[in-house]
Amino acid sequence: MAMIQWFPGHMHLTQKAIAERIKHTDVVIELLDARLPGSSANPMLGQLTQGKPALKVLNKQDLADPDRTGLWLAHYNALPGTRAMALDASMAAPAKALVAACHALAPNRGGMAKPMRVLICGIPNVGKSTLINTLAGKRAAKTGDEAGVTKLEQRIAIAPDFYLYDTPGMLWPRIIVAKSGYNLAASGAVGRNAFDEQEVALELLDYLRQHYPAMLAARFKIEAVAGMPDEELLEAIGRQRGALQGGKQVNLQKAAELAIFDFRAAALGRITLETPTEFAQWLAAGQTLDAQRQLKKEAIELDRKIRFKQIPRPDKRG
Ligand code: G4P
Repeated sequence: MAMIQWFPGHMHLTQKAIAERIKHTDVVIELLDARLPGSSANPMLGQLTQGKPALKVLNKQDLADPDRTGLWLAHYNALPGTRAMALDASMAAPAKALVAACHALAPNRGGMAKPMRVLICGIPNVGKSTLINTLAGKRAAKTGDEAGVTKLEQRIAIAPDFYLYDTPGMLWPRIIVAKSGYNLAASGAVGRNAFDEQEVALELLDYLRQHYPAMLAARFKIEAVAGMPDEELLEAIGRQRGALQGGKQVNLQKAAELAIFDFRAAALGRITLETPTEFAQWLAAGQTLDAQRQLKKEAIELDRKIRFKQIPRPDKRG
């Protein structure tokens, strides 16, 4: 299966903006999608933020499996210089908890002489604008990831001595874990035309079949989902949801769209697509594969240079 790669643009601008802002930042808030905390994190952020205290906010917790959210919170809270909390848009006043967590991470900041300066980051669709609007108490402008739309850094005063900075553009990771690509696509973080719905739905169903079989069975009125091949499951879902073409045959594209839609709307129930342990395993495997790919690329490049006589053959050297 092809790896999902998607670049929403503005990367250089965003990297530059974050690198500038980080010098005057006390705490970095990274908004994560509570349904896929590992995959919605940005590994580049760690490098850019140079070990600044980090607050991981597991957003959209209303859609995620509460037990697994607990596992992720414990995982992040055990990391040095890191705290974690779960949030969702239904919380009317999230500011108090956010402010308290930031003060715990940077206890030397506060008061008008040393206001708390917090940078907020997150991949597209994670709920950053919604949260900023709630915190700002009005409609703050969306920073936007539309190509060619350059917006300025925003500063939102949450308290007289507490500033939240939102950088323009998006920081999108190079995806080296195939599963992360699928989970990001299933969650709605990847642009609509950048992935194959059937492929994403089959991956999603494969995971749900193993980890949430009762929810699948209840939603789609299908028995014995655990042993069912993914393609059969998708067909059964299409049949049950009336995604038919020509009277009888299942329209698999429509069935895939419906399965993804139901997941996004939490119509099956509250689901999380990865645990900290699973994600660590996927990441380790992804890094090994990535290193192998890199070596292969370097070997091809070396061979090309030799063939075009830019460098001598190794056996003729010295
Ligand atoms: P972004 O700035 O990070 O790109 O995300 P944004 O706030 O635009 O939110 C993306 C989508 O996620 C929106 O839905 C928004 O309503 C939804 N959302 C944000 N926070 C939460 C949350 O805590 N829980 C749930 N369930 N959803 C949340 P949308 O369908 O794209 O737009 P709309 O229909 O709300 O206008």
